[in-house]
Amino acid sequence: MSKIASLEINGEKYEFPVIEGTENETAINIKTLRGATKGVITIDPGFKNTGSCQSAITYLDGEQGILRYRGYSIEDLAEKASFLETSYLLIFGELPSKKELETFETDIKSKYPTPDGLVKILEGFPKESHPMGILGSLTCALNAFFPECNQTNTENEVYNAITTALGQFPTLVSLALRKTQNLTQLTSDPKLGYVENIAQLLFKKEGEAYEQNQIINDALDKLLILHADHEQNCSASTVRIIGSSHASLFASLTGGINALWGPLHGGANQAVIEMLENIVNDGGDSKKYMEKAKDKQDSFRLMGFGHRVYKNFDPRARIVKKTADEVLNDLGVKDPTLDIAKALEKEALEDPYFVDRKLYPNVDFYSGIIYRAMGIPTDMFTVLFALGRLPGWIAQWKEMRTNKEPIGRPRQIYTGEKHREFVSSTVNS
Ligand code: CMC
Repeated sequence: MSKIASLEINGEKYEFPVIEGTENETAINIKTLRGATKGVITIDPGFKNTGSCQSAITYLDGEQGILRYRGYSIEDLAEKASFLETSYLLIFGELPSKKELETFETDIKSKYPTPDGLVKILEGFPKESHPMGILGSLTCALNAFFPECNQTNTENEVYNAITTALGQFPTLVSLALRKTQNLTQLTSDPKLGYVENIAQLLFKKEGEAYEQNQIINDALDKLLILHADHEQNCSASTVRIIGSSHASLFASLTGGINALWGPLHGGANQAVIEMLENIVNDGGDSKKYMEKAKDKQDSFRLMGFGHRVYKNFDPRARIVKKTADEVLNDLGVKDPTLDIAKALEKEALEDPYFVDRKLYPNVDFYSGIIYRAMGIPTDMFTVLFALGRLPGWIAQWKEMRTNKEPIGRPRQIYTGEKHREFVSSTVNS
């Protein structure tokens, strides 16, 4: 029997259907609320209780610490799948066959060549630019260089835009890195695997041949998979809402990149390392910073801790922590920030402030330590997050368009002045 939710406003009763997802998540469908009640809306700052869509891409249970892409657990995917396989899964809904994966990879690689004009745009950026600003700008500029991708009415057009985004992005990431590091620009190499090519673009030194490092490639692959999607977070919601106006894929992705930049979202991985370095430079007293994080008069937050949805543990953080230990060990890197991170985690897990508020390390807490061990500059960490999140954003955009979702347009409760007569201030004074 279908479930109903009842609502009473000023003595009037209204009924709304209750819908359930495949994992029994429940929502009251209030689509008819405003019409039926002649103007009443709901308000929910930060959308803490509001579902913006129905989605079949990613399942997340914050209480149990579960994350699945298209039904496959993040643990299995991180262990057994490649980033490109995971991207295909997210975007098209099923794991690819060997042939499908090969075709997908070939099609992406056919979109590798970077337009000269993009590199010219890059020249105008100051060397001190934040690489996320460069990445966002160059992604938006793709609209101009690949105008055919702005048409996404047929399956072929959608596929073309998707493979172009996946083909161009590694080079855009490396353009952002190499510009800010004063290194010569490189082009993507189709002879290399997708992640091998990314490694070469990131790590190749001037005038030297690049030797692939399996430890780095495996860790990079895993980190990209762990970041690949996370349902209706700030950047994915931004991508969907921009795309809902039928703006292009690249315009929507640009919005996602900019939303990700903030330190409460993807920018946290940069903020974590800066925080850990500060603590190390300040004598390594983790307890002092725990006290600051708990002090409501102090704006300091323990970066990399807490999550809107995870209220038990973040399954990605567990994998990243284990990977950080392995990578630092395999690369023979000793990093005092890892010791501080572990000390903070231990203290937080025993501290009533963090326990009561269900604050646990999130994916960003240990990821920066791995990037640092690989030699990636701190301000590039969020760019690497964006590289991983690209297939998730694409999948969210594609689903929104396929489901023919209406344009995103929230309402508001107006709290400003009532109507006032206009009196010119120049006449008054
Ligand atoms: N350090 C200290 N206190 C915290 C923290 C923290 N990192 N996070 C939350 N709190 C406190 C907060 O002050 C509030 O306390 P009270 O109830 O006394 O007012 C309570 O916990 C609930 O916090 P909230 O800000 O209402 O929770 P939210 O769901 O709106 O925010 C969050 C989630 C991730 C923005 C927040 O936990 C935070 O700012 N964390 C640090 C930034 C960070 O690591 N972000 C990365 C998120 S994971 C990667 C991604 O997908 O973006």
